[in-house]
Amino acid sequence: MTESLTVRDNRTGAEYEIPIVDGTIKAADLGQIKLNDEEPGLATYDPGFVNTASCRSSITYIDGEKGILEYRGYPIEQLAEKSNFLEVAYLLIHGDLPSKEQYEAWVHEITFHTFVHENVKGFMQGFRYDAHPMGMLMASVGALSTFYPESSRIDDPDNRHIQIVRMIAKMPTLGAWSFRHAQGKPYVYPDNELSYAENFLSMLFKMSETKYAADPRIAKALDVLFILHADHEQNCSTNAVRSVGSSQVDPYSAVAAGIGALFGPLHGGANEAVLKMLRRIGTVENIPAFIEGVKNGEERLMGFGHRVYKNFDPRAKIIKKACDDVFEVTGVNPLLAVAKELEKIALEDEYFIKRKLYPNVDFYSGLIYEALEFPPEMFTVLFAIGRAPGWLAQWLELVQDKEQKIARPKQIYTGPRTLDFVSAEERWA
Ligand code: CMC
Repeated sequence: MTESLTVRDNRTGAEYEIPIVDGTIKAADLGQIKLNDEEPGLATYDPGFVNTASCRSSITYIDGEKGILEYRGYPIEQLAEKSNFLEVAYLLIHGDLPSKEQYEAWVHEITFHTFVHENVKGFMQGFRYDAHPMGMLMASVGALSTFYPESSRIDDPDNRHIQIVRMIAKMPTLGAWSFRHAQGKPYVYPDNELSYAENFLSMLFKMSETKYAADPRIAKALDVLFILHADHEQNCSTNAVRSVGSSQVDPYSAVAAGIGALFGPLHGGANEAVLKMLRRIGTVENIPAFIEGVKNGEERLMGFGHRVYKNFDPRAKIIKKACDDVFEVTGVNPLLAVAKELEKIALEDEYFIKRKLYPNVDFYSGLIYEALEFPPEMFTVLFAIGRAPGWLAQWLELVQDKEQKIARPKQIYTGPRTLDFVSAEERWA
């Protein structure tokens, strides 16, 4: 079998042979297909990059048809069941599971970088009382570059390492403080005797008690949710991190861009949108009318559908199980009945079957977050904390990849040309 593509340009009759490598052709190879030497070569048009690979990556494997997700080759189901978030973070960043010494050193490093400079607290306090916590997180992560100006030395491996540690360590602190801010409560400093998830819960919920003791089932569920969100190959926010990172800016600025992308309702903001949707539907009786609205194009069933998964999102299955664990502690969220019935009806409906629309990671996660007493605005912050190791692993891969270039897509220009400028004075006369 010849690994190449023969292309015949019917405009000119010319034939070209283009190599196929790893199931792809190089878009640049199409540039040789031209009408004449004056015209630009053929390019591809791919809004939303639906069929364009932007990089080679050995971090996350997804088979959307079969519903498979693996980090560095390990199935998500096994990691969620047997590992913990910091071990998964190590795996994503370093490419391999840690030895005992490596694991202990890693956990120690992350734990001892959880504090932020006092001035960070100062400027976070300057946000409006009702600031969205994602806006606060995005701004404060971006601002970390000003506290660590050496982070711009992205060619130095030791320097890269310490910034990665800092970011994973400080995200919960910044996320928790943005939550406390909206409630007018004092910010809680990290407690380095606690695990990653317990410490986060302590910074979120601690009041006058000397030590905050999270329910271990809640801490475990949160840790699992972080694992499920830790990476998802070239999604919108990861692409934002890579795109911004390709300018060789420091990792805080690149990750801040990722947080901005995640904020949107079609991406990480979907879990917030799901909960608002479920509240709007309110009761099981209102579901058929809502589904009709979706089919008529007046509504979108948030938490359903995925660019890659054309089968069950494997993360949604694990989250459904985590729901049961959390509800054992908090009591069942009454919206669970609405969500389950909505899923049942949608999975039997021709509209959703035909389009291969299944529940995604965001369909049930919001219910857990609400049961944990997070306001919907905080949901995407939780997603961002979980996704940080993935963004950083992708950033690390990018900056070491010799094939990468500054991201700079082409466009098809559709505007006017060579107009003669008429001054304002003449136009308005
Ligand atoms: N509800 C109703 N119809 C839908 C939905 C939905 N949630 N998702 C897709 N469709 C329809 C869409 O209208 C289109 O129909 P038609 O062919 O008749 O025009 C068809 O399905 C294909 O959809 P698309 O918009 O071309 O698919 P996409 O790959 O561009 O979009 C998506 C993927 C996730 C943005 C989209 O499914 C969506 O908006 N879902 C709701 C938001 C959501 O849950 N997002 C979280 C994604 S998972 C977490 C993450 O990775 O961030």
